Amino acid sequence: MWVISRGWLNAPTVRDSRLEQELFGVRFPNPLGLAAGFDKNAEAVGKWQSLGLGFSEIGTVTSRAQQGNPRPRLFRLAEDRALINRMGFNNEGASAVARRLAAAKPAIPIGVNLGKTRDVPLEQAAADHAESFRHLRPFGSYFVINVSSPNTPGLRSLQEKGPLTEIVTTLKEIDGTKPLFVKISPDLSTEALDDVLEVAHDQRLTGIIATNTTIGRKGLKSNVKQDGGLSGRPLFDLSNGLLSHLAASADKRMVLIGVGGIFSGGDLYTKISLGAHLCQIYTGFVYGGPKTAPRILREFLELMHKNDVASLEQLRGSTR
Ligand SMILES: Cc1cc2nc3c(=O)[nH]c(=O)nc-3n(C[C@H](O)[C@H](O)[C@H](O)COP(=O)(O)O)c2cc1C
Repeated sequence: MWVISRGWLNAPTVRDSRLEQELFGVRFPNPLGLAAGFDKNAEAVGKWQSLGLGFSEIGTVTSRAQQGNPRPRLFRLAEDRALINRMGFNNEGASAVARRLAAAKPAIPIGVNLGKTRDVPLEQAAADHAESFRHLRPFGSYFVINVSSPNTPGLRSLQEKGPLTEIVTTLKEIDGTKPLFVKISPDLSTEALDDVLEVAHDQRLTGIIATNTTIGRKGLKSNVKQDGGLSGRPLFDLSNGLLSHLAASADKRMVLIGVGGIFSGGDLYTKISLGAHLCQIYTGFVYGGPKTAPRILREFLELMHKNDVASLEQLRGSTR
């Protein structure tokens, strides 16, 4: 982060009209963005475009600054191309992040991911989100309600209809013009996922981000026994399952952001063909390094060419 925030890393940007799209009034130069949790404090917010990314999501930001969990809290499972993390929303708090965003001039769209402060009771989650939103409202192309991190006790219960509706309506009362997304856990049952969809439809959310990390440990080769959320390759099929379900059930105007286990252009191709409008990457970037995004986009364009696909729109949902 230190090196990236100084602009010392660059990767050749892949520009191609087939990668561009306009969604909810925002122009995206390409469909691959940085997932939340990498630039929690917007320290490198003006720099992600020079690594070839099409948008970046900052946060999770909480209303108050917090330390997160004690270290160690991030573990590599190299054999599995995976990570386990229990960071616990370490961040500088909404007003500090807002000051940084106010000074930045990012060339790509910025998502702002909001979460509940650990010390705030679950019943006050809506008011806590509202406080962050008041600070950060001017600075996001879109906003995310993150109710899916496994590392804040009880947080994922906020995905239930009542609490989620309360958070959404509270934010909409403050400013109903901002595109709002909810980010979901891959560990939701189909019924719980349908409940989220119902809230998303009723409240006219802009879209859904699928998915956060899993608490499951299926199919791992590594013997790393640590609590936290698992990301990377082992999450690919699981998150794709939820994405497919959403694509099949959500109404057409709902924007889907696919995240979980993207390492190659083929992975990006799969998620878009399942119905994603945009995708995000975290673990693949950790293992692949600074040239990851342009490599993935070049591979993706080759696949489009090979399969005679002329646009993202044509590809989207083609395997449904
Ligand atoms: C170290 C680490 C920290 C993360 N922090 C956050 C976070 O603060 N907020 C959030 O919504 N997701 C967070 N995530 C989840 C990612 O945004 C993403 O949903 C997940 O890692 C799956 O994508 P991937 O397989 O490409 O890593 C974090 C992931 C990792 C590995």
